[in-house]
Amino acid sequence: MYRGKQILLGVSGGIAAYKAVELLRLLVKAGADAHVVMTRHAQEFVCPLTFQTLSGNPVHSELFNLIQEREIGHIALADRAVLCIVAPATANVIGKVAHGLADDLLTTTLMASKAPVLFVPAMNVNMWENPLYRENQARLEHHGYHFMTPAVGELACGWEGQGKLPDPAAIFDFAQNLVGSRDLAGRTVLITAGPTREELDPVRYLTNYSSGKMGYAIARAARNRGARVILVSGPVALAPPEKVEMVQVTTAREMHAAVMARCEGSDVIIKAAAVADFRPLERGTGKMKKGDRKQLSLELVRNPDILADLGAKRSKALLVGFAAETDDLLANARKKLADKGVDLMVANDVTEPGAGFGRDTNIVRFLDRNGKVEELPCLPKEAVAGKLLDRIQSLLKESGGKKFRRQ
Ligand code: PMT
Repeated sequence: MYRGKQILLGVSGGIAAYKAVELLRLLVKAGADAHVVMTRHAQEFVCPLTFQTLSGNPVHSELFNLIQEREIGHIALADRAVLCIVAPATANVIGKVAHGLADDLLTTTLMASKAPVLFVPAMNVNMWENPLYRENQARLEHHGYHFMTPAVGELACGWEGQGKLPDPAAIFDFAQNLVGSRDLAGRTVLITAGPTREELDPVRYLTNYSSGKMGYAIARAARNRGARVILVSGPVALAPPEKVEMVQVTTAREMHAAVMARCEGSDVIIKAAAVADFRPLERGTGKMKKGDRKQLSLELVRNPDILADLGAKRSKALLVGFAAETDDLLANARKKLADKGVDLMVANDVTEPGAGFGRDTNIVRFLDRNGKVEELPCLPKEAVAGKLLDRIQSLLKESGGKKFRRQ
C-alpha cells in the first residue's frame, strides 16, 4: 500500500522520538518515499542523520533554511505527501495546529498539506488527561485530523498510565488505513477470532490452539479498507486493533449470543474463530479433586454451531466460514460449505507447515457455492486477509445490490 507513495513523517520532541526510527524503517521497507521533518526539540532526542540515512532523503527542520527551501520548500513537502504522520506528536505540536499556529517547519507543513494527517500522541498521562489537551484533540478531530490512542504503561517521566507511543508496527498498520483503497467504506464487517474456552471448574478449561492472528489480520485489513468492523474475540494475547469495535467473549455460547445480536446489521460475516464444538455437561463450582482415581471421563454436550445458525437464518449478509482440517481438506470443506449454508469457505489444512494455528502465515483455498476453488500459496496472514477481502468485494459487486442477496 505504501509502495511509491510520498509519506511525510513529522517527529516532535519527546523521548518516544527514538521509536519513530523504527516506524521510518518499516515505511521504507514497504517501499514508501519517506521524508522526515523534525522539530528542534526532536533533534535533542535523536540525531537527524539517523533518519536521513534510513530514508535516503534529507531531513528537514528549519522553516527559513535557504538551501532546503530552494531544493524542496515546505510547500512542496506539503503538496507531494499523500499522508502525514506525526509520531510522536507532543501536546505542543497538537495544540499549535489546533489553534492554526504555524511557527516552525513541521506545523507549517501540516497546515499547508491537503493530505490526511495522523497524529500519534505521546506524553505524560496528566497532560493526556488535561482538559485543554482534550479540547485541542477534539477540535482537530472535528476538522478531519486522525488520531491514534496512546498505549498504557510505564512512562518515561516515571508516571504510570496512558501516554506511551503505540508500537511502531501498530502505527505502520493503522496508517495504511489512510492511504489505501476504501472499497469497503459503508459496509459493516463482523469478524470472529480466536478460541473459545469451556470451563470444567474454576481452574481448568477446554480450548484449542487458535491465537486469533488470522481473524485480527482480517479485522485490521477490513478497517483499513474503510469498513466498520466489529470483532468478536475469544481470549487471545493480541492487542485490540485501533478503531475496531471489540466484543470480548470466552465461551462458545457467549460468542453465539454476541454474533446473533449483531448479524442483522452486518453486510459481511467472517467466522475465523475456532469454536469449541462441545463443553462439559457440568461445571464444577470448586476445583475438581483427583482423589485416588486412575482415570476420569468427561461428559460433554454440543455447543451451538454459530456458523450453521447464521446460514439457517439466511440473513442478507455475505457469510464466510473457515474450515480447519487435518485430512481430506477440500472434501471436508465442501461439505461444511453446503451443510452450514455459507457463501464462501476458506479451507486451511492446519497440519501443513506454514498454515493454521498460531503461525504468522497461512495456506488457504477459497471455495465458493459454484464449486470454484482458488488456491493461494503460503502467505503472511495479513496478505491472506487482503486476498480474502478482494474475493469478498468481488462477490458483493456481483450481487449488484447494497446488500448481498443469498439464494
Ligand atoms: O487463530 P490463528 O492461530 O491465527 O489460527 C487460524 C485458524 C486456524 C483458527 C483459522 O484459520 C481457522 O481455520 N478458523 C476456523 C477454525 C474452526 O473452528 O474450524 P472448523 O472446521 O471446526 O469450523 C468450521 C466453521 O464453523 C468455522 O468458521 C467456525 O468458526 C465455525 N463454527 C464451528 C463450530 C461451532 N460450534 N460454531 C461455529 O461457528
